[in-house]
Amino acid sequence: MDAGELLRRTAERAIEHLEGLDERPVHATATLAELRGALAVPLPDGPVDAAEVLEALATAAEPGVVGTTSPRYFGFVIGGSHPAALAADWLVSTWDQNAGLYVGGPAVGVMEEVAARWLVDLLGLPGASSVGFVTGCQMAHFTALAAARHKVLADVGWNVEERGLIGAPPVRLVVGAARHVTVDRAFRYLGFGNGAIEVVPADDGARLDVPALERILADGPDSPTIVCAQVGEINTGALDPVGAISEVAHRHGAWVHVDGAFGLWAAASPRLRRLVPGLDRADSWATDAHKWLNVPYDSGLAFCAHPDAHRAAMSTMAPYLERNEDYPREQLDWNPEFSRRARGVPVYAALRSLGREGVADLIERCCARAQRFAAGLRDAPGVTVQNDVVLNQVLVTFDGSVPTDEVVRRVQADGTCWLSGTTWRGGPALRISVCNWQTSDNDVDRSVAAILRVAGAA
Ligand SMILES: Cc1ncc(COP(=O)(O)O)c(C=O)c1O
Repeated sequence: MDAGELLRRTAERAIEHLEGLDERPVHATATLAELRGALAVPLPDGPVDAAEVLEALATAAEPGVVGTTSPRYFGFVIGGSHPAALAADWLVSTWDQNAGLYVGGPAVGVMEEVAARWLVDLLGLPGASSVGFVTGCQMAHFTALAAARHKVLADVGWNVEERGLIGAPPVRLVVGAARHVTVDRAFRYLGFGNGAIEVVPADDGARLDVPALERILADGPDSPTIVCAQVGEINTGALDPVGAISEVAHRHGAWVHVDGAFGLWAAASPRLRRLVPGLDRADSWATDAHKWLNVPYDSGLAFCAHPDAHRAAMSTMAPYLERNEDYPREQLDWNPEFSRRARGVPVYAALRSLGREGVADLIERCCARAQRFAAGLRDAPGVTVQNDVVLNQVLVTFDGSVPTDEVVRRVQADGTCWLSGTTWRGGPALRISVCNWQTSDNDVDRSVAAILRVAGAA
């Protein structure tokens, strides 16, 4: 079969998958043993026709594919795939540009340049902020915190890129108790031991306690300091008061980094922007496009209000590389990767297709559907919605005949929707994360009915 026919057939299979999502269980149906049995064939000695391989792998994989792009997938924080972003992603693979340098793909370089400016504007960040298109929020933390490490040490006369951390002035790492694990992991990547992290207690809404931050900063040594805030706590969606945190932290000369893996998108909605007052006063921000913007994996975004620090932390050059003097944002300067996929292109397509109002509508709709979930669940006997549903996350516990962890297991097996569990205040809880562009009121109602049925609370 020629390549054109193979690609047309593959597109057909992809479309069949998408169109079948409403009918099939959201969870994967094949067991690990079945998947291995179907996929772990001996490595062929010689070539096999590509069409045969694609047909075989797609057929074997389908029962092992989770319906993460289904409008009733509410696990972890996993967005769907907006059609414009998905189609653009196909083109990215087809073009196979190396987005590390302008010369490796001029058109994708310009699309990323444009998308970067759109994002800064849409999220209300300082106009001169630099942007890195990275794989996910984990690497966005790494990138932004590398910039932070550069700046706070440069401020006391230490060039960390040149001299490393051995013998460097100690850096204070001050984080909220409800931070995401990826913050600690980014610090590890940057050569900071997790034992050095100073934790600010959270208030009863899982937000960083600002007076406690003030005390910790005032009581500790006057060293270079990085403070990490968060908008969008993984269980509750709680948002730290970034403006107030920045005011306190900046008084102590600290850098403020914001984990906004999903919550940063509240800033793109005129109605929800009030949830993130003072967001633009921080120094760096990390978010994902693969979560709430509904861009396919993998797509994270690092923003930095100090482009010089960002560039100093990331930039590299080699004699064989060609810089384009007319293009001011060679990707090598803003990303930890060297060669890389043009992952800003699906972001560009999503933003251009949704427009400013479409992004706001996507975010607001998901929040409204989270409220609908909470309303549908909270009046049922033995069901408690544990959080103040401020954003798109709903946290639920059950004290009826079926314990919470068993409810989670049964919902997952039922297949109407998919949710994940967590630990909340020492006990199990069920998490609902609404971040798919397609989720309708009907999807919520079907899911609420399924949850209450398996919980014996219908
Ligand atoms: C608050 C928060 N920060 C960071 C991350 C990590 O994001 P990623 O998996 O894209 O690296 C997540 C993922 O759910 C998150 O919710």
